[in-house]
Amino acid sequence: MPLRDTPGHYGTVSRILHWGMAALFAAQFLSAAAHWALPKENAVRDVLWSYHGTLGATLFLLVLLRGAWGLANIPRRPPAHDGVVGRAAVAGHLAIYALMVIVPAVRLLAAAGSDRGLSYLGITFVAPREVEVAWMQAPAEWHGEMGWILALLVVGHIAMAVVWHRMIRRDDTLQRMAG
Ligand code: HEM
Ligand code: HEM
Repeated sequence: MPLRDTPGHYGTVSRILHWGMAALFAAQFLSAAAHWALPKENAVRDVLWSYHGTLGATLFLLVLLRGAWGLANIPRRPPAHDGVVGRAAVAGHLAIYALMVIVPAVRLLAAAGSDRGLSYLGITFVAPREVEVAWMQAPAEWHGEMGWILALLVVGHIAMAVVWHRMIRRDDTLQRMAG
């Protein structure tokens, strides 16, 4: 299996990033779902919530890496499918990429402008502020909503890969990433 993508298959690096991040996103959505659904004084909710910020920041760094790798591999990537469905798939992937960047970015921006500051793995990048910066907080108002839209897109993405491509069309789309 080549490290880089080829027109027939995604390469090892793209696959590790895709499937590794899929597993991490599952954990991230689980923490968000528990935060939304379980009562405030709940041990399971607390445990799942304890990693939400750190894992979210990790996913932010990983998606930048993955985006850069994807761009560097564009000339050799598996081609998009023809027609309207192919264009919709490209638009869907771009929307997922955009939200994978924006959703954590708005929360990290809010942290950097808050009285808690921005730290990651014990390293302080922005010290806590005396006064919160209002414009840095504003976009984070939509963090949860955009996170749920991302979750819906991912559900649609999985359904397209497994139900449409694998079970109905029986084409090689799933194998390009998994086979
Ligand atoms: C790709 C990464 C992320 C995803 C998919 C995500 C998803 C979500 C979702 C769906 C919610 C709503 C939960 C609810 O309805 O109760 C939420 C809330 C929250 N998230 Fe994230 N999150 C991510 C990254 C981050 C990061 C990096 C931070 C902090 C630095 C963070 C901090 C918070 C906080 C404080 C809340 C509760 C307040 C609010 O809804 O804005 N998240 N997240
Ligand atoms: C069981 C879960 C999943 C399955 C079966 C799956 C399947 C696939 C397949 C087959 C492709 C290749 C599509 C093609 O060649 O046109 C793909 C690409 C892609 N997937 Fe998934 N996927 C899953 C989870 C996820 C998750 C959780 C995310 C993001 C949060 C995601 C984001 C993407 C993106 C952005 C692409 C475009 C190619 C790339 O840049 O890597 N997938 N997926």
